[in-house]
Amino acid sequence: MTILVTGGAGFIGSNFVLDWLAKSDETVVNLDKLSYAGNLQNLSSLEKDSRHLFVKGDIGDATLVAELLVRHQPRAIVNFAAESHVDRSIHGPGEFVQNNIVGTYQLLESVRSYWSPLPAPAKSNFRFLHVSTDEVFGSLDKSAPAFTERHAIEPNSPYSASKAASDHLVRAWHHTYGLPVLTTHCSNNYGPYHFPEKLIPLVIVNALAGKTLPVYGDGQQIRDWLYVKDHCSAIARVLEAGQVGTTYNIGGWNEKANLDIVRNICSLLDTLKPRSDGKPYQDQIAFVTDRPGHDRRYAIDARKIEQELGWKPAESFETGIAKTVQWYLSNQDWVANVQSGAYRDWVQTQYGAPAAEEASPVAA
Ligand code: NAD
Ligand code: DAU
Repeated sequence: MTILVTGGAGFIGSNFVLDWLAKSDETVVNLDKLSYAGNLQNLSSLEKDSRHLFVKGDIGDATLVAELLVRHQPRAIVNFAAESHVDRSIHGPGEFVQNNIVGTYQLLESVRSYWSPLPAPAKSNFRFLHVSTDEVFGSLDKSAPAFTERHAIEPNSPYSASKAASDHLVRAWHHTYGLPVLTTHCSNNYGPYHFPEKLIPLVIVNALAGKTLPVYGDGQQIRDWLYVKDHCSAIARVLEAGQVGTTYNIGGWNEKANLDIVRNICSLLDTLKPRSDGKPYQDQIAFVTDRPGHDRRYAIDARKIEQELGWKPAESFETGIAKTVQWYLSNQDWVANVQSGAYRDWVQTQYGAPAAEEASPVAA
């Protein structure tokens, strides 16, 4: 048996592939175009593992995808492939429309051509699992109940709008063509191999490099954090037992304000890797211009997946963030390798050249 994972060289996809092969002997064909966010170093432990076949390519390449599907006859697709960073979507929405919407459409069509003539029961047992995000639900007021699966779809950024559009396509391919789909909506992930353009790895990496820790606006925006390996176990569970044609919210009931997250990381580093001048890392915090259209709060109501599929996260935020900080301290080579020229260009675009890199840190 084989599954096809797309975007499996990115942050969540690579964790998923590693965890999948740690628990199962089912072959993984991993299709990833290796954008700036894709990194084969994440998968180096699988270099000589015949259960992992990496293919560099685009989900929108119909010829390549058709050839892979016919050759490997996967019983399921797990679709992680997407542009994933909100700030990048604000600077350049076109890539998000192309990869997340057009790419998903083309993948669905390639999969439909492969799946339609499959004999029973392979046809009914087949699954297309689409990995989506809580951001498609928009922003919550402080006291509003958390997002359930029935919450209105109200995306606010080019990224979340592109994910919502792809979710609609997946839904329509089920209702119109009968493709056996599942869609998951997860909250913010953190953990190993997280690209340091996102808040948690950026703060760890900048803190250790003596740079400012940029907090957008007042830092009181709330995100609901889940350790990446818990997201991966939830996806595996939905793939195994989820009800076809439905959606599952995934989260760990861990709402935190951004400023509290940054302070938490600073105090962990104060203990694990104290600054050479003896000062606290919090001195490096700097409040910077807010993200345009910044969503104030996300929160996931995870009762459906807990009650229907018996899934629960293994990590609390406290255990997960401690493991994450420790991972970055132990994997400085990985950090150095991803901080290529392209990464430096992005930091300059987003934070301005000397501002984020050289300005004196401002105490919070
Ligand atoms: P990431 O940016 O780290 O990785 C995305 C991967 O997809 C990269 O390896 C990239 O090369 C690949 N990719 C992009 N476009 C492609 C294409 N057209 N063809 C083939 N490969 C392509 O992203 P991530 O954080 O790992 O997110 C993975 C998925 O999970 C995304 O769909 C994202 O929307 C969703 N998600 C992310 C989070 C989060 O907190 N990071 C939370 C919920 C859902
Ligand atoms: O909610 C799930 C989503 O979480 C995923 O769908 C996205 O792919 C993923 O990138 C993430 O989106 P966010 O925008 O919430 O994550 P990010 O790490 O970019 O930002 C987290 C919060 O921290 C957000 O409120 C913006 C803020 N922030 C971010 C950066 C990069 C800062 O204050 N400073 C920063 O430098």
